[in-house]
Amino acid sequence: MLNSDGFIPVKPDHLLKNTMLTFDLFELKYDDYELFRSESFPVTTDMIAEIAEDKERMFFIKETDLGKFHDYQEKYLDTLIASNSTTNLEKAQTIVNVGGQLISELFSDQLNPILINRCNNIVKNLITFLRRSNDAAKFLYVSIPSGYSVYHHSLNVAALSLSLALELNQFKPKDLANLGLGAILHDIGMKTVPQKVINKAGRLNHREYMLVKKHVMWGVRILEELCLLDANAIAVVQDHHERVDGSGYPARKRDDEIHEFGRIAAIADVFDAITSARPYRQAVNPYPALKKMISFRDGFDIQFLKAFIKLLGENR
Ligand SMILES: [Fe+2]
Repeated sequence: MLNSDGFIPVKPDHLLKNTMLTFDLFELKYDDYELFRSESFPVTTDMIAEIAEDKERMFFIKETDLGKFHDYQEKYLDTLIASNSTTNLEKAQTIVNVGGQLISELFSDQLNPILINRCNNIVKNLITFLRRSNDAAKFLYVSIPSGYSVYHHSLNVAALSLSLALELNQFKPKDLANLGLGAILHDIGMKTVPQKVINKAGRLNHREYMLVKKHVMWGVRILEELCLLDANAIAVVQDHHERVDGSGYPARKRDDEIHEFGRIAAIADVFDAITSARPYRQAVNPYPALKKMISFRDGFDIQFLKAFIKLLGENR
């Protein structure tokens, strides 16, 4: 929620003890925003107790410090996800805010070890959150804006892929980490697709569609040149548009030729694409979206699709 005077409210529960403020914190007093604690101030147990004492007190940050606030949440994400004083919805919203900002940096900056480490941190916390709460996937789903953006799409595909993998219950922690990282980066090759094609309001013509299809090859190339990712993470990027009936791209692989992470991400990718609004069509609700996916099930791993339907059924 944004105030017209350039301040944004911050819930006191989002301030964590034994951390350091990375932004100026203001308190609303008699219609005026008064500086309460400045940037770099340590958040102590006493300060938390003082804030919690009076529930009427309202705290704010400057709108221009929103990026700094998300940096704070990212830095202390482990603590926030483990905290009992924030709700699952607030945890989901924090992951979406922090993840959205990070993924926008992945698409605007050159990839580097720091960015990849930050992705690993988001994935680690996503897995913790999904494991700790049965309805975590639902809260993530409602927290991610429904309008399509490649940032939110990437985060949604990671959340849905990890939810499905946890439902399948056959992967080791290292596998889950690779799946999550690959899913966050699955469309990173879109960086190389011209903006005017990505932002085109109408349907793509044949030449434009051929360009978009190259995002798979470009994504794999970007990640291989980085030399930081496990082959199992890159497999998500390589295989997320392959289909088990051989109708996918770029290699028209079939069945087990497609990496199991590619088969998982394919389901998450298509589901998120159908349930997000695009400039040329409205978002489809989850239930009809699943019906649509069942109608072209020959392209999906049927066991994985069944588990995905069960998962969403549980989360309705
Ligand atoms: Fe893609």
